[in-house]
Amino acid sequence: MKKPVRVAITGGAGQIAYSLVFRIASGEMLGQDQPVILHMLEVPAALEALKGVVMELHDCAYPLLEDIVMTDDVNIAFSDVDYALLVGAKPRGPGMERSDLLKINGEIFTEQGKALNDFASRDIKVLIVGNPANTNAYITMHSAPDLDRKQFSSMTRLDHNRAVSQLAEKTGVKITAVKNVIIWGNHSTTQYPDINHATINGQPAKSLVEQDWIINEFMPTVQQRGTAIIKARGGKSSAASAAFAAMSHMRDWVMGTDEWTSMSIPSDGSYNIPEGLIYSFPVTIKDGKINIVQGLEIDQFSNKLLIATQHELEQECEAVADLLV
Ligand code: NAD
Ligand code: LMR
Repeated sequence: MKKPVRVAITGGAGQIAYSLVFRIASGEMLGQDQPVILHMLEVPAALEALKGVVMELHDCAYPLLEDIVMTDDVNIAFSDVDYALLVGAKPRGPGMERSDLLKINGEIFTEQGKALNDFASRDIKVLIVGNPANTNAYITMHSAPDLDRKQFSSMTRLDHNRAVSQLAEKTGVKITAVKNVIIWGNHSTTQYPDINHATINGQPAKSLVEQDWIINEFMPTVQQRGTAIIKARGGKSSAASAAFAAMSHMRDWVMGTDEWTSMSIPSDGSYNIPEGLIYSFPVTIKDGKINIVQGLEIDQFSNKLLIATQHELEQECEAVADLLV
């Protein structure tokens, strides 16, 4: 057995956390030989509800769960933590865009970035899930200047999974037959779900579906899936699929993957995306290092969409400039 690692989850009494923490405690995220200590953060008003989640965690008698820290103090929540999944934030409701949450949630991430900077393990890996996820990650990263930018990411894995699933369903293949789908840009409706490089059982995906379906069905379905789920669930946003995506994102970051996946990470200038912008790229991961897939040909149509989502992210960053260190 390895030495236990500390995993922080914010919004511990929320919907996503309820689908997430049990899987982390069971070893699904970090492996069956990795004991964990969960650090769960909530606002004071939700501590009683969090207590209920903690009771259920105990009732599972997970062999890998060494301890649980339950707190409303962000500094305690992030003390010595090795992994942080920042989920806690207000979700949007019907009729809202994720960017409507910029100001409401932005301040949470300033405070949490500072606490990560001052109290977390120097090797921490941080995943931001709370919306608007990319810009919240940007705020968190800027609030933690002593940590390396490469330690911050936000989640477009759910969009990636949605795209893979839509493509598999359309072409009548298993999920595992679909490779090299990409989500570029922001976790918002301007994201670009790109299948130009995707394959299905080794065949170019584009040769198996019509262009009209890509433009008028596939792309809007993936871009607007969050809204469709909110409508179908009577106002509640996606939770189990978001939790699974968060866990998969972190697991791949730690364990590595040769398969392309999509992660929002600080740009290194690849594909002319300005350095430091938290932008979703196609990536592979080796030894904990996230590598942007290089050398892809970007046609004119795609280039326009890459730039449009970049511009939206730049505007979001401008809107929160007063929160940045
Ligand atoms: P929820 O309302 O069920 O839970 C959020 C929890 O966070 C609540 O219990 C709340 O008390 C807590 N919280 C609020 N402020 C906090 C703070 N400062 N510190 C600690 N906890 C705090 O919401 P949810 O459905 O779990 O969604 C959480 C967030 O994740 C939302 O912003 C939602 O939009 C986002 N989300 C992102 C994706 C993605 O793909 N990136 C997918 C789904 C949901
Ligand atoms: C999603 O994509 O399901 C989440 O970001 C929730 C939302 O607001 O759409």
